[in-house]
Amino acid sequence: MEGQCEEKRELSDDGDNGLQMAPELMLDLAHKAAELLVERIQDLPEEEAWDGEFRQGLERQLMKDPPEAGRSPAEVIEQVAREILPVAMRLDHPRCFAFIPSSPTWPGVLADFMAAGYNINACTWLVGSGPSQLELVVIDWLRQWVGYPESAGGLFTSGGSAASLDAFVAAREAAGHPERATVYMSDQSHSAHIRAARIIGVRPECIRLIPSDDLFRLDLDALAQAAADDRAAGFNPIAVCANAGTSSTGTIDPIEAMADYCESESIWLHIDAAYGGFAVVTEQGKELLRGIERADSIGLDAHKWFFQPYEAGCLLVKDLSTLERAFAVRHDILQDTIWGANHPNFSDRGLQLSRSVRALKVWMSVQTFGMEAFRQAVSRGMALATQAEEYVSESQLLEMLNPASLGIVCFRINPDDTSIDEEELTEINKTILARMFWEDKAFISSTLLHGKFSLRLCIVNHTTTWDDVRETLKAIERFGQEALSSI
Ligand SMILES: Cc1ncc(COP(=O)(O)O)c(C=O)c1O
Repeated sequence: MEGQCEEKRELSDDGDNGLQMAPELMLDLAHKAAELLVERIQDLPEEEAWDGEFRQGLERQLMKDPPEAGRSPAEVIEQVAREILPVAMRLDHPRCFAFIPSSPTWPGVLADFMAAGYNINACTWLVGSGPSQLELVVIDWLRQWVGYPESAGGLFTSGGSAASLDAFVAAREAAGHPERATVYMSDQSHSAHIRAARIIGVRPECIRLIPSDDLFRLDLDALAQAAADDRAAGFNPIAVCANAGTSSTGTIDPIEAMADYCESESIWLHIDAAYGGFAVVTEQGKELLRGIERADSIGLDAHKWFFQPYEAGCLLVKDLSTLERAFAVRHDILQDTIWGANHPNFSDRGLQLSRSVRALKVWMSVQTFGMEAFRQAVSRGMALATQAEEYVSESQLLEMLNPASLGIVCFRINPDDTSIDEEELTEINKTILARMFWEDKAFISSTLLHGKFSLRLCIVNHTTTWDDVRETLKAIERFGQEALSSI
């Protein structure tokens, strides 16, 4: 016993367990990391929007055994900043228009740093009272922005995928967890919803992809027919998923009509607003997403159009009790954390027990810049998309393939004065995409519009200017011209 005490004293007297740092060094390193980040942000517009490497090269560089003895921490940070993190798509580059980009604000970045430094676990009220209260505050902002009643609530999640998974669990439980469950979504819905449905146990053949119309909106008659056929065959529709901004075209499904239908059929309506949802902070967006407040649940991603670093998803449900009924599970070891309904445990609302305080980044950014700045930044995305649409419509070389919606513009090279068959057009546009990829500073991606190959810009970055959009379109025209002159 005596020996053990002595050993303990020896360990603590030493003051260095091998995993700690002197305060001065901690500050130096934090300073160094911050300097590198600010330098990166300043230099970004001059850089390419994408950098990447094939695996072989990266493996040669990085595939090493963990060192037995540590090395200089400044060197480690330097290596990360020079060799690892920049070898990626720079989603916050003002000319990154691919997929759904993301452009975090600095207070959001600092929020993640501080949350990690304070080692926050926003799992229960006992473990994180301040962070839990903050999450309630931000969730309440979002509740008001979408127009939900006070009975609504929710939680922050890793992203839209986790939000839809949690929503489908709540929907399944609200439906009484029936056998032979079916879910419905448009053929334009994000694959995250197919995955979420599979995870909750909906058989792949019971995930109904409803056809979309020529503007890529879910066909309501086809939905009603599919659900009626299913009921007649003994299946149990548990959820319908509507899009508030598809990732392909930014299309908004007929939300009001889908809400009418789901209400009349008592089917849970989930709205995937991961991309488009934050449009509701603007008057224009509120109008476009009219009826969103009628959904049973809504998923939104603040790491898309609300300028936060990954991960910042959110699920709101109209009746908070539906979420807690689905997720709250008692566990003896957690009995001390039950402080009653007035002190919610966010782990009772979703998948995760241990979870960071994602709401902090939204809160710190909004506190710092104010809502007016956010409203303007979201509006600017829509305005630039409209301007891009005008440019494309006036171009002799470009053709709009769908009206711009939210911040997304789908178009291709298709000259006014030449008739080229579809197959050849596809090849030309693929060539242009490849040349943009390798030769231009901007980064764009493509999609298929009912099978037709389309180039696509998603404009949601608060630092993007009209110059960035126009120069990107001009580069596409230039490559298009060259491709056309070689046929
Ligand atoms: C419309 C839409 N829904 C869902 C998702 C999935 O969200 P996350 O990647 O945050 O899990 C995405 C991702 O881009 C999306 O664009």
